[in-house]
Amino acid sequence: MTDIQFNSSNQQFHLCNDNISYVMKLLPDGELVQVYVGEKIPNPKDLSYTISTQNRPLSLFSEENNNNYAMQLIRREYPDYGNGDFRIHALEIMQENGSHITCFKYKSHEIFSGKKTLPSLPATYVEDDLEATTLEITLHDPEIDVDCVLSYSIFQDFDAITRNTKFVNHSNTPYHLTKAMSFNLDLPDQDYHMITLAGVWAREREIVRTPLRHGIQGIYSNRGHSSSEHNPFLALVRPNTDEFQGECFGFTLVYSGNHLAEVEADTQGMCRVSVGIHPQGFDWKLTDSFQTPEAILVYSKDGLNKMSQTFHNLLGKRLCRGYWRDKPRPILLNNWEATGMNFSETQILDMAKEGKELGVELFVLDDGWFGGRDHDKRGLGDWFVTDEKKLPSGIAGLSQKMKEIGIDFGLWFEPEMVNEDSQLFREHPDYVLCTPNREKSLGRNQYVLDFSNPEVVDCIYNMMAKLLKEADISYVKWDMNRYITQCYSEKLPKDQQGEVFHRYILGVYALYQKLIDQFPKVLFESCASGGSRFDAGMLFYAPQTWASDDTDAIERTKIQYGTSMLYPTSSIGAHVSVVPNHHNHRVTPFLTRNHVAMFGAFGYELDLSVLCSEEKKVVAEQISYYKMYRSVFQYGKFYRLANPFSENVCSWMSVTEDKSEAMVLYCQILAVPNVMTKFLKCKGLNANQLYSVEGFTETFTGNELMNIGIPIYSDMWAQSLPDFTSKLFHIQSL
Ligand code: GLA
Repeated sequence: MTDIQFNSSNQQFHLCNDNISYVMKLLPDGELVQVYVGEKIPNPKDLSYTISTQNRPLSLFSEENNNNYAMQLIRREYPDYGNGDFRIHALEIMQENGSHITCFKYKSHEIFSGKKTLPSLPATYVEDDLEATTLEITLHDPEIDVDCVLSYSIFQDFDAITRNTKFVNHSNTPYHLTKAMSFNLDLPDQDYHMITLAGVWAREREIVRTPLRHGIQGIYSNRGHSSSEHNPFLALVRPNTDEFQGECFGFTLVYSGNHLAEVEADTQGMCRVSVGIHPQGFDWKLTDSFQTPEAILVYSKDGLNKMSQTFHNLLGKRLCRGYWRDKPRPILLNNWEATGMNFSETQILDMAKEGKELGVELFVLDDGWFGGRDHDKRGLGDWFVTDEKKLPSGIAGLSQKMKEIGIDFGLWFEPEMVNEDSQLFREHPDYVLCTPNREKSLGRNQYVLDFSNPEVVDCIYNMMAKLLKEADISYVKWDMNRYITQCYSEKLPKDQQGEVFHRYILGVYALYQKLIDQFPKVLFESCASGGSRFDAGMLFYAPQTWASDDTDAIERTKIQYGTSMLYPTSSIGAHVSVVPNHHNHRVTPFLTRNHVAMFGAFGYELDLSVLCSEEKKVVAEQISYYKMYRSVFQYGKFYRLANPFSENVCSWMSVTEDKSEAMVLYCQILAVPNVMTKFLKCKGLNANQLYSVEGFTETFTGNELMNIGIPIYSDMWAQSLPDFTSKLFHIQSL
């Protein structure tokens, strides 16, 4: 049950579901303050006593005759700038007279069942109005005649609150909105650790945990997409919080462009969390309205794992959409690591035939099929020119041949990019993002197309749609392989250049939406040099994301472990590749590579036809095993059991909703001689249920598996077994 109440006698808002409460209050002058967020408090009384009203040296008051609170000492819902709150602010509006100062106070509110969609932006949704309740509070600044509408939705089935902000300009003056955060939360203390997912290419989403210190700390991207450097995720957890106990607040932004998430621990002992579009370079000409992206807050009082499960459910079930949302994701074979751009039709068909024989369901032709693309200096943008030297039957012909083999066919695109050596660039040099009279920088020999210009989006749409119509294509890998620089659009006037980054990502979303509308059954997998744009915004359009170009199984334990902090297993593209690994030259057992990749949208990234017969046998066995338990792997409840960032082991498990079945991964990193038997404690099983565990003749109760654990016999590991050995346990109720 969700409920939102406004108590007019004490001017208090209470948002709640069965487990969490979020309480705000209106002060007499219309200032909106936060008073409580956390575990549910049923029917809270007037919580005025939580608001600081004491006068303190150097604090300033909002009104001369109203000395009952100071801006810098209260917990504000959406702090504006310039009135005595010196912490980070949520909005900034540049006015004609040069002032940035605003003063937004309560004007009205509305409570309704369900949840609105956000125009042109990805957002969580409901399928039935009973699933969520929404509160919209309109704040108003009479001096500039602008409304600021704060929207809060609380879900029935997820301990989550989503927020977004809309600015509406009722005046005839076009102001400039230079900061517009989606979410602000002021908490009464700062006894927290901050957890973020930092990384670089091939080492995406490493878990970083640091105690808060006085001052501002945070994460950001100003690269034009969400980036591998800082995933748009931040959690505040109590110092004693671990996977299975302790309080945590997790935040993410449903957005794929520049972002900023900051925490300010002030010297009075409070902390402020601010999440939204990065204000650097942002400047929106506010003629009518501006809508921020949605941000999500997840609360867990039972540790990080519970927080992650809430994110998995919410993102997996009420952010991902469409045909593929709940479907088993196909087992795919991708040719990139096997051939690069150097392939022939015969070779591709041989690979596909071999794949089909071993049980693969989808063949994905990666980069190199178009526009004379023998190397990465040519062809991007020419999605209408199939390289006929390599593919004499063209893409449509090849897709027919795939059909004859009995395997689905998928294709790689990099829609947002163009090479100088391409027909598209020769005809439309003006389609590129670049600043007049300045050098255009190349990244991977390519320029970024100006997706803020709808004409460019249409042009790319027409090329892609034509191919998707002509050929039998059931999957698209949508890549994006460089950061955005010299971000300037020739099509926009000078006072709107600060809009280009945001308009760019709106253009990306618009292209996705047009293609989804036209081809609703095509499965999109997003990719950006591996996992550089793995974010909630993308999941609204592409239900899976290629997690990383790094396919080394041991690196992958970390990447997938970090990614599981908020993204569901079904969304994590994970493939088996050859050894020595292309990126770190590590040699890991074939079985380990299989086991790790199975906890994701599974596939192979190698030439199956060159494997020895023993390996082919393993592939066939692994694939049929995966097919048998695919729903447990992809859609089970995910538990992290051992952390590869701090231990010599990575372990996780996935349990069906009814607790009748589970899959457990135990992956030892380095071999250690002469260790005692270890016991791997499971989670999420039924305590009184009797289970069989693959590899054991005896049976175990759930209670035993959770409290004693699966024995990992030392002689299995200590003698001559090599490094990087893994074990997969299938647990089945009896
Ligand atoms: C990026 C992707 C790879 C592959 C190449 C092709 O690096 O992450 O998976 O598609 O581009 O150029």
